[in-house]
Amino acid sequence: MDIRFAEFTLPQSGAVVVGVWEERVLTAPARRLDEATQGAVARAVAAAARFHGKKNELVPVIGPPGLPLSRIVLAGLGRPEAVDARLLEDLGGNLAAHLNGAGETAATFAIDLGDGAPVRPAEVAARLAFGAALRAYRFDKYRTKQKPEQKPSLAALTVATTAPSEAKQAYRALGAAAESVAFTRDLVSEPANELYPESMAERAAALAGPDLPGLSVEILDEGRMRELGMGALLGVAQGSTCAPRVVVMQYRGAAADTPPLGFIGKGVTFDTGGISIKPAAGMGDMKWDMAGAGVVIGLMRLLAARKARVNAVGIVGLVENMPSGNAQRPGDIVRSMSGQTIEVLNTDAEGRLVLADVLWYCQDRFKPKLMIDLATLTGAVIIALGHENAGLFANNDELADRLIAAGKAVGEPVWRLPLGDSYDSAINSDVADVKNIAGDRGAGSIIGAQFVQRFVNNVPWAHLDIAGVAWSKKDAPTVPKGATAFGVRLLDRFVADYYETE
Ligand code: BES
Ligand code: MN
Ligand code: ZN
Repeated sequence: MDIRFAEFTLPQSGAVVVGVWEERVLTAPARRLDEATQGAVARAVAAAARFHGKKNELVPVIGPPGLPLSRIVLAGLGRPEAVDARLLEDLGGNLAAHLNGAGETAATFAIDLGDGAPVRPAEVAARLAFGAALRAYRFDKYRTKQKPEQKPSLAALTVATTAPSEAKQAYRALGAAAESVAFTRDLVSEPANELYPESMAERAAALAGPDLPGLSVEILDEGRMRELGMGALLGVAQGSTCAPRVVVMQYRGAAADTPPLGFIGKGVTFDTGGISIKPAAGMGDMKWDMAGAGVVIGLMRLLAARKARVNAVGIVGLVENMPSGNAQRPGDIVRSMSGQTIEVLNTDAEGRLVLADVLWYCQDRFKPKLMIDLATLTGAVIIALGHENAGLFANNDELADRLIAAGKAVGEPVWRLPLGDSYDSAINSDVADVKNIAGDRGAGSIIGAQFVQRFVNNVPWAHLDIAGVAWSKKDAPTVPKGATAFGVRLLDRFVADYYETE
């Protein structure tokens, strides 16, 4: 979809969207369209019994008189004082879905809020476009038999604004965000026969180059991991014919002596459970058990693309968890890079084993200012929080509060759950330093977080359990069903609001 920003002129083709305030008050562009169509807009507003101009209300006027347009869409805006960036993104997303569903190929958003609105005109235009771009995402590369009416139709979007060049400027970072979200959604959507540790590492490596200055990518192979002593990660990988990889992405956008922010991702490209094998029903979902890694890679892409004034390192552990004659067994004891030994009582609690070595490597090599890991770690977080909030765990209140605030601002909410010594003691092993599951099934997400915390020293750290939010079974305004890329916008906002230097 091609997006342009331009001054408002009466469109002569395609679809046009105009705003209507609550209590059916027409905005200025809505009045202009009404005059040009012999009162068709006002008539539609009066005739649509359920239309009040509240947010999320859309009324199409098909083939209006007086202008050669395919349709005018009346979009409810709600009350002026309640308009904010998120509402505009959602509106842009809902409109993109409506227009694509209707088969429109070109559209103009003429949603001028006028003076007195709490959002500046350029920002209004940029947020509408951002929402539309996020919702227009599709993963259809494997569909060879789609009929034209099954494909998205909207190819050209013009966003009318009184400040086109300022809007274009404001859209630079947002457009980069939409592209990075799409990049992550692509990774998460790919099936495991196409996306496995080596191929996923290659996709990350391909980001380094002249288009994204400041970004460098290294790939650690199995031999290097063995030298480093990453026995926990290697134990998970040993049952698969796919070799594991660790990808280290560095972005330098601040002074060389500024310690980087560390972002760590679980990248299990497929999780069968291993010898502790999962039941067949729903196992296909485990192709997206690499979502944490996908988010970290997309975030690093975005920081580089918008030239964030920060140093960051993104490290992902990529493995496939398979049962085989060479797979690790329940009861095996592995030695992690930290030196701690781990009794692997359940081979399906594999994400924490991968994170253990990757987190340790991150703090050991980079001395980061803080570390945040993302992982589809536990089914239990879905029992606790459903698909609305990600689980947040942290050893630092300020870090937790900042993540909560950033999540709220972008519509990717996180909910903090506790950590504590009494939970921690549940993973003491009788034969090794730690075991990878507790004796009973209570507090599964907390137990997972406690395990991960054993591999974090004195550095502010947060863990986001994204098992419930990485994939969506229903459409939302800016997130079509499927891979969500939950975390990319949150962490980008987190960096922008708290860690960028002048
Ligand atoms: N990848 C799964 C967690 C998961 C479940 C993610 C559902 C997304 C949707 C993880 O590796 C796992 O299998 N966790 C186990 C842990 C248990 C064995 C302690 C779980 O949640 O059952
Ligand atoms: Mn598992
Ligand atoms: Zn897993």
